[in-house]
Amino acid sequence: MVKVLKGTGFSSISAHKIEILEHYLYCLDNKGMIAKRLAPSNSLYQSTLQEAKKEGKLIELSEGQYLLPGFIDLHIHAPQWAQSGTALDIPLHQWLNTYTFPLESKFEDTAFAEKVYSHLVDTLLANGTTTGLYFATVHEEASYKLAEICAKKGQRGLVGKVVMDDPEQNPDYYRDQDTQTALADTERFIQRVKTLHSETTQGVYPVVTPRFVPSCTDTALAGLGQLAETYDVHVTSHCSESDWEHGYVKNRFGKNDAQVLNDFGLLREKSVMAHCNFLSEADALTFEEKGTAIAHCPVSNAYFANSVIPIKQFHDLGVEVGLGTDLSGGYDPSIYSAIRQAVISSRMLEDGVDTKKDPKERGMKNSRITAKEAFYFATAGGGESVSLPIGRLAENYAFDAQVIDTTVPQASMPIFEKIEPLDDIFQKLLYLTKRENIVSVWVQGKQISK
Ligand code: GUN
Ligand code: FE
Repeated sequence: MVKVLKGTGFSSISAHKIEILEHYLYCLDNKGMIAKRLAPSNSLYQSTLQEAKKEGKLIELSEGQYLLPGFIDLHIHAPQWAQSGTALDIPLHQWLNTYTFPLESKFEDTAFAEKVYSHLVDTLLANGTTTGLYFATVHEEASYKLAEICAKKGQRGLVGKVVMDDPEQNPDYYRDQDTQTALADTERFIQRVKTLHSETTQGVYPVVTPRFVPSCTDTALAGLGQLAETYDVHVTSHCSESDWEHGYVKNRFGKNDAQVLNDFGLLREKSVMAHCNFLSEADALTFEEKGTAIAHCPVSNAYFANSVIPIKQFHDLGVEVGLGTDLSGGYDPSIYSAIRQAVISSRMLEDGVDTKKDPKERGMKNSRITAKEAFYFATAGGGESVSLPIGRLAENYAFDAQVIDTTVPQASMPIFEKIEPLDDIFQKLLYLTKRENIVSVWVQGKQISK
C-alpha cells in the first residue's frame, strides 16, 4: 500500500442505493487504485491502521469531513468558459451564431486557449470534478493544448477536436477548411493524445467529436464513424437537443437524430450523446443496445432546449446516464448544480394524477428522480458511460475523490451528527456543498495541489 485514507464516505451501489462507509479505510496501490477497502468490523482493520500510522502513510479525515467520489462531467464546452453566464436568454441557434461561434473562432490563438483552459480546469477540479469530457474547438493545436493542461494538472480529460466541415451550415470564419482536412486533423489529434495518455497516470483520452449532425457533411460523419472504429476511441456529439436541431435532421435524412448517428457508426459503447431530449422509445432502445450513454444537462436544457427530458424513463429502459454542466449552455461549472437541477426538473415533469382519467393534467407519471439517483448519474453512472473504472469508492476503482468539510467557517453546514442519520447528512452534502467546502480533491490516488 502506498497510502491509506480513513474516513466516512458515500458511494453508489446502484441508482437507488448508496453504501454508507462509516470510518472505512481506503488502501491505495501505486497505480492510484483502491486495492482494499476495509470496514471497522474487518479483522485486518486494526493492523492495517496501525501499520499505516507507523509508516507515515495514513491520512485521516477530521470530524465533520466526508468523502465522496470525484464527479464526472460528461459535457463541457471548454472554450465557452470564457462566456459563462452570458446570453442565456436567446434561442440556441441565435446563441450559437451571435456569441458562441465568434468566441470559439478566437481559439486559433493557442496562447489565449491556454489561459482560458487553465482557468477552467483549475475551476472544475476545485468544484470536485475529477473527470471531464470536453468539446474543444475546430483547432487541432488548441484542442491538444487542452489535453496537455488536463495531463499536467492531473485531471482525467477526454478531449475532442470539434468537427464542423459543412460550408453551407457553418460560418466561413469558423469551420474546418474542408472535409479531408477535418478528418486528417482528427486522426492526427487521436494519435497525439494517445501518446500523451501513456505519459500520465490518470489518463487523457481523444474523443471523436462531430459538433452535431447539422454542422457536418455525410462524408465527415461517415469518416468519423470509421476513425472511432479504427482507433476504438470515445465519441461524443449533441443529439436531439432542441426542436430546431431535431427538425433539421428529420428534414435532411427523414429520420431521427439518433438513427442518423447510428447509421454513421457513431453510436458505440464508448459514445456519449448530450441532451437527447427528444429520443423516441425506439431511439432509446438503440442507445441501450449499443451501450451509448446520455449526458443529461438539466441546467442547459432549461435554457436552450425548453424541455425536460424524461430521464427516469430512459434510464429504466437500460440506457446509461451521466450528468453534464454543458458549459456555457449551463452557466455553473459545478456538478452539484447539475445534481440539484436534475432533481428539480424531474419533479416539474412528474404528475401524480392519471392523465387518462383527467386529460387536463400535464406531465408524465413516475418521472421524479431522487437525490440518490442524481448522485449516481454524477458518479458511477458517469463512469459506466465512459467505460472506465471510476465513480465509486470501491475496490478496483481509481481513487478519485473529494473531501467535503462541513465545518469550514465561510460555508459551515447545519449538520448535527449526533441527532441525524448519515443518510440525511449525505443528502445535505449534495444540496449544501459549496466550492469552499471541498477542501481536497484526489485523482487516481494523487492529491491535486491548489
Ligand atoms: N449544439 C451545437 N453546438 C452546441 C453548443 O455549443 N451548445 C449547445 N448547448 N448545443 C449545441
Ligand atoms: Fe453542448
